[in-house]
Amino acid sequence: MKVEALIMLTGESEKMEINDYILEVEDLSVIRSGKLVISDINLKIARGEFVGIVGPNGSGKTTLLLSILGILNAKSGTIRIHGCEPMCRSNDGRISWVSQAASNIPNNLRITVRELVKLGSISSRNMFFPDRKKIDPIVDKAVEMVDLKDVEHTDVARLSGGQRQRAVIARALASEAEFIILDEPLVGIDRKARSSLLKLLDKLCHDAGKTILMVSHDLAAIRQTAHRMIYLEETIKFDGETSEFPDLTEIAELRGINPVHDELSDYQH
Ligand SMILES: Nc1ncnc2c1ncn2[C@@H]1O[C@H](COP(=O)(O)OP(=O)(O)O)[C@@H](O)[C@H]1O
Ligand SMILES: [Mg+2]
Repeated sequence: MKVEALIMLTGESEKMEINDYILEVEDLSVIRSGKLVISDINLKIARGEFVGIVGPNGSGKTTLLLSILGILNAKSGTIRIHGCEPMCRSNDGRISWVSQAASNIPNNLRITVRELVKLGSISSRNMFFPDRKKIDPIVDKAVEMVDLKDVEHTDVARLSGGQRQRAVIARALASEAEFIILDEPLVGIDRKARSSLLKLLDKLCHDAGKTILMVSHDLAAIRQTAHRMIYLEETIKFDGETSEFPDLTEIAELRGINPVHDELSDYQH
């Protein structure tokens, strides 16, 4: 009887574990313009994790994110988000993407913060019959979370770099997606804005239950916030707790190079 109960318990916990993975990538390889860009990627991300991806320029970080989103096709391997393919219908609205340089909104585009955030709440489900009563409170909440309430009616073009980046994140929040993927969101913003952005992402993860996957070449910044870090250079060369992330000399070893100062300068800010 005891053994049966134990098996039942174990079975249950295994089931919970499987259901708790938002993302499951198995043996993924992707080719772009005839060149193998990423290969043998195996990666699982559980609900509520904050995972940072680092790696040199051209190492395949954006390619991995675009594959996860279903924009690039895999040469081999599988990707599952919430248990099904990235573009499957049930994933509609559950993943949100903040692209590289998303906050480079042209200065001649007249759009207020609130309008920009509202765009995020439009999905294929409500595009033709948007329900203001539902959308307005979602937009309010997103604007408040990123602390832009006092400038919500200001043109995005008039905001500082850090505020713009927060506006773009609020747009992602308005989609109410539980899985937020960010590609280099810290580029072009000053140190103070960077730190408030990182605090915001941390809050989203801890208080709002979001799962975050963020690419950044800013090792110091990502280290401050992510629970888990991945070092990608065509394949995953490190995946583990942030506290165990290799130091610069060990990264050089991972890269198979002698630690020449210039080669490592990418990681020193
Ligand atoms: N649109 C594209 N077509 C062909 N190759 C590309 C394309 N975009 C990127 N690549 C190549 O894929 C590799 C990885 O690029 P990318 O994923 O953008 O790297 P990262 O984001 O790590 O800087 C690079 O060698 C790059 O030249
Ligand atoms: Mg990139």
